[in-house]
Amino acid sequence: MGVPGHPELKIGKIVAGAVIMMARAMPTPQFPTAPVHAARLAPGGERFDAPADMPLLLAAEAAGLALPSSCRNGTCRTCLCQMTQGQVAYRIEWPGLSAEEKAGGFILPCVAYPVADVVLRAEPARWL
Ligand code: FES
Repeated sequence: MGVPGHPELKIGKIVAGAVIMMARAMPTPQFPTAPVHAARLAPGGERFDAPADMPLLLAAEAAGLALPSSCRNGTCRTCLCQMTQGQVAYRIEWPGLSAEEKAGGFILPCVAYPVADVVLRAEPARWL
C-alpha cells in the first residue's frame, strides 16, 4: 500500500501501533553524464581523463597532475600551451588569446573544455 503524495514510500508493517514506512524500490535517477575524453601531455606522455564539462586544467589536477596556472579565469595566460591534437570550446567570450594564437593551436587550459581527445604540449608538469 502506498502513501498518498509520497510514491517513494509504502506502508511496511505496523509494530506496536507505529506504522513502519518502507522505502519503495525506486528506479535510480539517471543523470546525463558528460562524455569523457582522453588527454595526453607531450612530450612527457602523461595521460588523464578529460570530462567535457570540466576545464582541462581542473581535469589534469583531478588526476593528480599540476600544470602551470594562476588566475584560472582565462586572463593571465600563465597556463598557455599548445594543443597539437584535438578540439576545445570556451564558455567565456574571449579567453585571452589572439586570433594568431588560436590559429596556432594555443589554448588556455584553465577555461578550455575538451570536445574531443586532446594532446597538449605542456611543461613543466608534475604529479601532485
Ligand atoms: S591560469 Fe590564468 S589564463 Fe589560465
